[in-house]
Order: sequence, then structure tokens, then C-alpha cells
Amino acid sequence: MFRSLDRFIEEQSWLDTIGDPLQGWFKALFQMGGGTGKRVQNLLNGTWLGHPLHPMVTDVPVGSWTATMVLDAVGATRDDDAMSSAADITLGIGWAAAVASIATGWAQWSYTSGKDRRVGLLHALTMATSFVVYTASLTARLRGARGTGVALANTGYLVMAAGAYLGGEEAFDIGFGVNHTAFEQGPGDYVAVMSEADLQANALTKVDAGGVSVLLVKLNNGIFALDDTCTHAGCSLAGGKLDGLSVICPCHGSQFDLRDGEVINGPATYREPSYFVRVRDGMVEVKRGL
Ligand code: FES
Repeated sequence: MFRSLDRFIEEQSWLDTIGDPLQGWFKALFQMGGGTGKRVQNLLNGTWLGHPLHPMVTDVPVGSWTATMVLDAVGATRDDDAMSSAADITLGIGWAAAVASIATGWAQWSYTSGKDRRVGLLHALTMATSFVVYTASLTARLRGARGTGVALANTGYLVMAAGAYLGGEEAFDIGFGVNHTAFEQGPGDYVAVMSEADLQANALTKVDAGGVSVLLVKLNNGIFALDDTCTHAGCSLAGGKLDGLSVICPCHGSQFDLRDGEVINGPATYREPSYFVRVRDGMVEVKRGL
């Protein structure tokens, strides 16, 4: 049943009529911010952490609102005001963390496309609905309408559970947000990939190293090699742009340091695997590095 539901959602092309302008709006907003916009993007995506920030932040509202539901139930059963107050506090904590979850989620979603974008959009809209319902619950509680507040919170929890399912689908089935080099194992020993004489300087060259695509860059200070598959969403870095000692991905502009694969600018969060390079008998050889 869930499998056909997943396929059904992925095929809903009408979601693109919302996704297109929304995504354009987010990108324009970040671009308008210039360097600050880029820093905010890096912050929200988790580039600074080397790990996507969104899945970490979302644990807080999910955990807090689960506690709210339990404390509400215990408070009502025992007629215990302390439990009810604790439920209100956890709801408030979850609400504050949900604001951060929404911000990190939209930042991550702004680089999706195709079915990633459709499922991601539905996930975001479902979670936004849950947030609105919890806001109404908080308001009702503050006004003393406890019964309404509890009913709204329980409704919000069901909506949140549906949204969480879609979020899991986005990551575990579609693979958005995962490290796209996670299953690539470059050669453990040096393998020859091309003649040094044929390697053009100051250019991005893609070679095969034991079944893995590797990017070679020959500069004045040496030859550098990174995995060619962008960790963000799998594009080929060889189609990108060389910028000093870094390469910029052609798809969404992630920038990686050629020396060690570290992410300079997101949306990527995971560094590129780098390779050791040597020249033997006129041939460039690489082996998996860090
Ligand atoms: S695939 Fe998205 S930045 Fe490279």
C-alpha cells in the first residue's frame, strides 16, 4: 500500500506548479543576500558541520511533541496540573525548534528537482500544517481552553507523523541529502589513469580509476584528484568550474577544496573523497586518500 502511495505522490506533476515559483523565490532571496546569503545558506544546510542540519534539528520537535502527548494524557487521567504544565512547556520547546526545522528544511529543499522536489514539497507542506495546528494549540492553552489545546495537539501529532513519513521517504527511498559518494570505493593501491603529457593544465579532467570516476586537475603546484561525483546530489564535477584551488559543481554551486575535498560552500555538507597522486614512468597514478 505504502509503495503505491509513494509512486502516486512522485507522479503528482501539479506539485511543480507550486514548487517552481517557490524554489525560484528561495534562490532569489539567498542570491540577493550576496555573501551573507551564502553564509546563511551554509549555516542552514549544515555545511559548517559536515552533516545536514535539518534531520538533527527535526528530532527536537518530534521528541518534544511526543512528550506533550504523553504528559497531556497523564495530566488528564490523574488530574495533575504539574503534568499539564509540563505538557505546555514541551509543546513550547517543540514549537521553537520547529521554526528552526522549517528554516533548515526549506533551505535544503531549494536544491531539489523532479520527484525529490515533489515529495519534499509535500513533506514541507504537511509539516507546515502540523506547525500551524500546534500554534493554534499553544494559543488555546494560553487562553485557558485546555481541552481544545489538547485536541489540537493530538491532531497536530498525526499530521506530523504523516510528514515525518514523507521526510523519511525523501531520504531513504529517493536518496536526497545522502552522501552520493558513500558507496564508492576508489583503488586502495596506485593505478595508472592517464599519461601526464595528455593531462591539460588548468582544466577539469575526468578519468576512470578502478571503476570510480575521478577528477584530475593539474596546476602549477601539482596534480590534484577528487572523486568526480558531487557528494551533494551526484553531478559530475568535471562539468563544473575551476576557481583557484577549488572546483565549483555545475549543478548547485557547491565548492570543494582541491587539496583535501573540504566543502568551502554548500549546499553540499559532505566533503569530497580525495586521492593521492603520483607520476610514474610518465603516467598519472592515483589511489584513495582521505
Ligand atoms: S550536485 Fe548539487 S552541488 Fe553538486
